Amino acid sequence: MEQYIIRGGVALNGEVEIGGAKNAALGILAAAIMTDEEVLIENLPDVRDVNVMLEAMAQIGVKIDRRDRHTVALCGAGIGDVSIEYEYIKKIRASYYLLGALLGKYKKAEVPLPGGCNIGSRPIDLHLKGFKALGAKVSIRNGSICAAAQALHGRHIFLDTVSVGATINIMMAASMAEGRTVIENCAKEPHVVDVANFLNSMGANIKGAGTDVIRIVGVEKLHATEYSIIPDQIEAGTYMFAAACTGGDVLVRNVIPKHLEATISKLLEIGCEVEEFDTAVRVKAPEKLSCANVKTLPYPGYPTDMQPQIGVALAMAEGTSIVTESIFENRFKYLDELARMGAVSKVEGNTAVISGVEKLTGARISAPDLRAGAALVIAGLAADGITMVDDIIYIQRGYENFDQKLRGLGARIECVSSEREARKFVLRVG
Ligand code: UD1
Repeated sequence: MEQYIIRGGVALNGEVEIGGAKNAALGILAAAIMTDEEVLIENLPDVRDVNVMLEAMAQIGVKIDRRDRHTVALCGAGIGDVSIEYEYIKKIRASYYLLGALLGKYKKAEVPLPGGCNIGSRPIDLHLKGFKALGAKVSIRNGSICAAAQALHGRHIFLDTVSVGATINIMMAASMAEGRTVIENCAKEPHVVDVANFLNSMGANIKGAGTDVIRIVGVEKLHATEYSIIPDQIEAGTYMFAAACTGGDVLVRNVIPKHLEATISKLLEIGCEVEEFDTAVRVKAPEKLSCANVKTLPYPGYPTDMQPQIGVALAMAEGTSIVTESIFENRFKYLDELARMGAVSKVEGNTAVISGVEKLTGARISAPDLRAGAALVIAGLAADGITMVDDIIYIQRGYENFDQKLRGLGARIECVSSEREARKFVLRVG
């Protein structure tokens, strides 16, 4: 089992390059099978979730040609089976995007019902409500969602809760429905816009992505395209907080600064200097971080996927902060791990009160989920002494070369797979 071992206390300095957005990639890969022509996707992040998604697609007959680490050509002409195996959905919830894509293209799909996950119960009722509104019959059989229709018809659909997954899934199915669909109360996240732009580049007719209302006129066929995925704003934000927490000065390259506004605004509030360039942002940490209150919200609000990272910063800030998690109910597990490093916090319902301490100290901790795991690595980089992070498989789901990129900024971190390797690291870094 691999672990990260970290010798903390080094300020991160230098430049880091951000890859393609994982969450956009997952939607785009699913949407790519909606044409029988070849689709070329560039700036694909080489992370576990994306690779599992490609395996799930290969299993139903999609031809996948990985041209290089970040480029893939796909062809959905040979799809012989519209049912996804549980093995894949178990590893990656976003394979539910294949439901919308297959339903749109073939008017039928079968995908195992995803269970809960480490950050909360994560229902998909809104996705199903959308498919039903478009005319599909949706049933749950033997643990799978089966959706089928003679034909899909455009409708007016109101989403009760703002949901990224439901917005993307319904948008995909509606792209190949007959007539006009209007989706209201949509998610406005950059990756919703990226999937819409991708579908439009294949000949779909989607307007309004990035606003509350998306209007779609269904088309009969989609065609070949070449598309480059947007940069990952959560990966970028993670390195920005790594700079802030370690007293560093980091230029984060290949980003769209507009997508980082909520993160930048919080970094300024806790005392960092942030400089914005066309495709980069520079974060310079202050002597001491200040406290702040944070509430996670759908985009353009502060992202729930950046909540653990700011939580770590606030655990070392001057004063007491209040963090409110309004999207997922179970996203404070990292605070229990952080307590082992000396952090002081109290969680009541969806609110955490974090009282900053002078210093965190290294400890053996586990990654509870993807973003929490990355945040705990940041804590280890900022702490005095040695930190060992277990269960890093979660982190590898969404961060490409995490340890390597951090080493490029001067961090003393290594991925080890035995006690012996860990001891060697400690001897080497002192
Ligand atoms: C996506 C992201 C995830 C991010 C989240 C919120 C992907 C692959 N994952 O997850 O990293 O944390 O957006 O920005 O893009 N809900 C319902 N019913 C539904 C669907 C959602 O009640 O049918 C609720 C959820 O429980 C949650 C809220 O809506 O409280 C938002 O969830 P949603 O935006 O759908 O998250 P995901 O798309 O699963």
